Amino acid sequence: MDLSPDLSPRDLLAFYLDAGVDALVGEEPVDRFAAVEAPPAAPRTAAQRPAPVAPARPAAAAAPTVIAPDEAAMAARAAAKSAATLDELRAILEGFDGCALKATATRTVFADGNPQARVMLVGEAPGRDEDIEGLPFVGRSGKLLDQMLKAIGLDRTSVYIANIVPWRPPGNRTPTPQESAICLPFILRQIELADPDILVCLGGPSAQTLLNIKDGITKTRGKWFTFDTGKREIRAIATFHPAFLLRSPLQKRFAWRDLLAIKKALDS
Ligand code: URA
Repeated sequence: MDLSPDLSPRDLLAFYLDAGVDALVGEEPVDRFAAVEAPPAAPRTAAQRPAPVAPARPAAAAAPTVIAPDEAAMAARAAAKSAATLDELRAILEGFDGCALKATATRTVFADGNPQARVMLVGEAPGRDEDIEGLPFVGRSGKLLDQMLKAIGLDRTSVYIANIVPWRPPGNRTPTPQESAICLPFILRQIELADPDILVCLGGPSAQTLLNIKDGITKTRGKWFTFDTGKREIRAIATFHPAFLLRSPLQKRFAWRDLLAIKKALDS
């Protein structure tokens, strides 16, 4: 798109939306590269200091300290390991500033459902509705997920639900490999602490990340894997993401087979 001065405000907004910008986090642009690279500035006099500006919205008020992805992943591993309970893990995650996604998200979306459940489902990342409510799978795909669970006699009292990445990526884009890698220690610890009997990966990115595989979801779904939680080995299976099923309803018949396999495993 040509960003000429006579571009209408509507076209400009459409451009920003396409580029993944869907939230206003401040009145002035911030050059975060300069924040990392600039040498420490000489202290300013009171007269030189800009007047404090009120934050545009509360969750984005504190920009996270920018640290290198490797360093952030290391910090995440240490932080996740230090959690002895799910409540501690949630608190640690809410205080963790190593992932830039936190700065643009409204809330940390930790989990929903019953942490004592035998089944744990893991999706990819929160979307707009989840970001607003602070709970995973509450939007359209969440409604479909609820129907899928109901079809095999489950609901949010009998499953535990989380995501690989607990912060909504701007514009619902796919999390980058670095963002997923930084968040991975937290979801791994969450699985270990919840200690389910069966892990269900919702969609390809969740399956690839947790099951350490390269194949796409069409090839992976419906197959049983062994997943080492750190405490013990459990069974894991991948199925289509509900958002994909909303776009491709004909694939629901395969998801139905996966659901039946999960039910059978629970009953055996
Ligand atoms: N998609 C996901 O992967 N997770 C959610 O929580 C919502 C939509």
